[in-house]
Amino acid sequence: MDQNQLKQAVAQAALDYTLAKLDSDSVLGIGTGSTANCFIDLLANHKHLFLGTVASSEDSATRLRDHGISVFELNAVSEVTIYVDGADEANAHLELIKGGGAALTREKIVTAVANEFICIADESKWVSHLGKFPLPVEVIPMARSYVARELVKLGGDPVWRENVITDNGNLILDVHHLYPIASACALEEKINQITGVVTNGLFALKPADVLFLATQDGIVKHLAGSSN
Ligand code: A5P
Repeated sequence: MDQNQLKQAVAQAALDYTLAKLDSDSVLGIGTGSTANCFIDLLANHKHLFLGTVASSEDSATRLRDHGISVFELNAVSEVTIYVDGADEANAHLELIKGGGAALTREKIVTAVANEFICIADESKWVSHLGKFPLPVEVIPMARSYVARELVKLGGDPVWRENVITDNGNLILDVHHLYPIASACALEEKINQITGVVTNGLFALKPADVLFLATQDGIVKHLAGSSN
């Protein structure tokens, strides 16, 4: 299978898992990126089974609405049953790097609200240690240079993702040369404490609950806290 077929397969596995947990009052959290798009397209055939969605980006909200799926403001929703999203890297602890699509802050917010976070990825995202993928950091525009200098002090090599403005009106710094990240939780906290940082793309303090990984041998289901 090529990478696109792996993404389709893992989206289908997550859909089967998700549909079994939904009722007519359920609100689903929907992520951002090409794998999440596969999930959105499959979800369209089942939109009568749940109340609606919250989206982690304007792009995903548009795609959902184009399928006739309701999209709510997160502030209008008291509970998100499941959040389904992709990742740029995932390790055996289900710690992730996300934000390749610049949607990391809204992704982290929906993750915080959701009862369960299901990550979907093809096997190219599976790593022993995080950090080869440059770590995205969303920053307030006037703090860009200051935050970049602070990230250098942490041993990183930040690169401004020029021409990208996030859905929140902010900028992205991609931090290279952090590999191997020894403690993802500690680094996530440390970067978030830099004044001017909105958030960073490490999802370690609250990792995924379940990871569906598409491999050439089939879908592998990893659970948080298991030895994998
Ligand atoms: C979006 O900001 C990211 O967190 C995506 O979830 C991540 O980049 C995965 O995207 P793909 O599914 O396109 O690889």
